[in-house]
Amino acid sequence: MTIRVDAPAVPPAARSPVAWEFFAGGGLAGLGLAGFRVGLANDIDAMKAAAYRANHPDVPLHLDDVWSLSAADLPGRPDLCWASSPCQDLSLAGARGGLQATRSGAFWGFWQLIRQLDADGRAPPVIVVENVAGLLSSAGGADFAAVCQAMVDAGYRVGALELDAALWLPQSRPRLFIVAMRGVAGPTVPAPVAPFHSRRLVAAQARLPRAVRAAWVWWALAVPARRNGDLSAVLEPDAAVDWFDADRTGTLLALCAPLHRIQLDRALASGVRQVGAGYRRVRTEGPRKVQRLELRFDGLAGCLRTPAGGSSRQYVVVCDDGRIRARRLTGREAARLMGVDDTYALPAGEGAALKLMGDAVAVPVVRALADGLLRPALSGGD
Ligand SMILES: C[S@@+](CC[C@H](N)C(=O)[O-])C[C@H]1O[C@@H](n2cnc3c(N)ncnc32)[C@H](O)[C@@H]1O
Repeated sequence: MTIRVDAPAVPPAARSPVAWEFFAGGGLAGLGLAGFRVGLANDIDAMKAAAYRANHPDVPLHLDDVWSLSAADLPGRPDLCWASSPCQDLSLAGARGGLQATRSGAFWGFWQLIRQLDADGRAPPVIVVENVAGLLSSAGGADFAAVCQAMVDAGYRVGALELDAALWLPQSRPRLFIVAMRGVAGPTVPAPVAPFHSRRLVAAQARLPRAVRAAWVWWALAVPARRNGDLSAVLEPDAAVDWFDADRTGTLLALCAPLHRIQLDRALASGVRQVGAGYRRVRTEGPRKVQRLELRFDGLAGCLRTPAGGSSRQYVVVCDDGRIRARRLTGREAARLMGVDDTYALPAGEGAALKLMGDAVAVPVVRALADGLLRPALSGGD
């Protein structure tokens, strides 16, 4: 089952605007860019590229390091360049080497291409950079300032929004979207508005250099109608999935921190079916580091992540009929949590499918930006 996302019909256009998708992964940004034609994609990862080609056979994909591309490899002039650049060095959970580190530094490879396109008279009027909210604070805010400064130096007006996929889908997934425009204008508001101009975004904007703030805009975006389903709506039928046996379930649940155990017992005592999601995490308790299972029963999955190690794979815990069952979240369920419908061809292995989805951008969030901000700007509406 897929969570229904009400999307307004895309108005017919004389010519669909063209989007180029960088750091394309499985192409979820392109899936959300309603009303655009994706004209080109790039990713360095062979597994991702195979998934991309399986699902977007008509889009020319450059399987290459973005640093090794040049404008001469990219024919035409895009209306939009979308860059979901790597986040590992910016994530609050990581070592935070920042935008100078090897992985997240790939943003500058993308930016080098934008500069080359500009020199050719082919720079796009709209650029979107998607990343984790950690970009706002990494290197004490210097990374965020550097990205915005680069855009402003190239003549763009710049603004950002923090969008949590939980408004559209049953997954907590806050992400930062920096949107730059030149020669076109999207809808704006004169001052920050919650929830998309979050407190940490407002604080980071206030720390930007004066010249960047002078070119700053607060993009306007409507808050969507309430989402129409919770975590249980995306799960496979109980009979179709593998559940842990009693020993494995017991070992997993024994990792619950006391407060999470109380939540679990309450869910069990409620007498109605309750679906929770959880991750194993290492926590420091006094002098010791301890493995803990952290559960939530608020109808949301935790933020999907790349399953680099077993501990970052999400668990599903179901209480009903006086018993507790536990299992892994499947790749197909992860895809639904990203707003991808079941016609999407996932890689054969569960690990690859979970990696593909854990790295991706949530489709309805991109669609909301496309409908509310990007297409209106490119069609001259305000
Ligand atoms: C955060 S993911 C973006 C996923 C994509 N938005 C999606 O929805 O599936 C970052 C992507 O950047 C790719 N990548 C990392 N370094 C790269 C580089 N130097 N050149 C090109 N792609 C790179 C990774 O393989 C990964 O697919």
